[in-house]
Amino acid sequence: MNELEFGFETNAIRNQMERSQYLEHSVPLYLTSSFVFENAEDMRASFTEEKDREIYSRYSNPNVTEFVNKICVMEGAEAGFAFATGMAAVYSTFATLLSAGDHIISVSSVFGATHTLFTKYFPKWNIQTSYFKINEPECIESLIKPNTKIIYAESPTNPAVDILDLEYLGAIAKKHNLLLIIDNCFATPYLQNPIKFGAHLVIHSATKLIDGQGRVLGGITVGSKDFIREIYLFSRITGPALSPFNAWVLSKSLETLAVRLDKHCENAMAVALVLEKHPNVESVKYPFLKSHPQYDIAKKQMKLGGNIIAIQIKGGIDAGRAFLDKIKLCSLSANLGDTRTIVTHPASTTHSKLSMEERLEVSITDSLIRISVGLETVDDIIADLIQALN
Ligand SMILES: Cc1ncc(COP(=O)(O)O)c(C=O)c1O
Repeated sequence: MNELEFGFETNAIRNQMERSQYLEHSVPLYLTSSFVFENAEDMRASFTEEKDREIYSRYSNPNVTEFVNKICVMEGAEAGFAFATGMAAVYSTFATLLSAGDHIISVSSVFGATHTLFTKYFPKWNIQTSYFKINEPECIESLIKPNTKIIYAESPTNPAVDILDLEYLGAIAKKHNLLLIIDNCFATPYLQNPIKFGAHLVIHSATKLIDGQGRVLGGITVGSKDFIREIYLFSRITGPALSPFNAWVLSKSLETLAVRLDKHCENAMAVALVLEKHPNVESVKYPFLKSHPQYDIAKKQMKLGGNIIAIQIKGGIDAGRAFLDKIKLCSLSANLGDTRTIVTHPASTTHSKLSMEERLEVSITDSLIRISVGLETVDDIIADLIQALN
């Protein structure tokens, strides 16, 4: 199949592994930890990679390879490696590419666990990170040191839904010969392709919108062949591989990614427009609302606005908690990107260990509520949020 000739949805559905002798229509699950060899020579040649074939599911597995191939086509990437979680993808990518003494430049508002990697664990290997604020990307060049290796960012960011100009980041990375790595979790490969703007590697937590139904954990890094080869060699030794079962689930999920995302984004836009007018809402941040501070950049690099909305409600931390207590239909859960709408209050939950100053640094105010808009009837989602706000 020549993927280049087909549209996104056709590739998502038809780009699948070869049929077995049973000629099944839907791809089977290869739930096996290892594979067998014809004889000693076959085994030897497989281990030296003279033969390209399956050996052991820590290295590769047909279901995992299918999932990787689908994401590569969607992201316009040469190669990829899939992981058990998004954080395994983040950690393994950095651990492969960095050496002791290297330096990272990252946007300050990154996912909490990634931030902890940078601040608590990487300093153990003398890997330091400098941060730039989301609204000051022009500071990046002043942070570059002789040992800087990577520029890292998310866009849109979690949980404040800020947007970074990927084309600008790509140009800086190119000018200074640095690696640009983008966590594309909130956008998915359907809404945004960072490689087009100069990213060398793109990371996803597949746990979120790629699964989209809150069932399995998964992660993936895709990009140029040479970097992925290094990531593969590191990972086949350290063992963070995605399970064949989860890969099978995720490949099925990708078949409906476009149609799910279209509806997620339509619902999110409708919710954002209603919340913007509510008297108890201070502000609403959604990438495709004209009032979003980086609206023009979002329009330039994203197909649609995504499913995450950040609102500030009037009344601070107590109002935030009271809002959550009044929610009836939506879920209070740490996940996002599910068919079910999820509301969270970062200041009293995921980011409660940060001081007020640290929270403000990453745009998390006491009254910030993150809404991951699901696929329920949109009027029902709106009615639940409005009754909780009232
Ligand atoms: C932007 C972002 N990156 C990475 C992760 C980590 O993914 P996982 O939970 O699959 O390890 C998350 C999880 O919420 C996320 O939101």
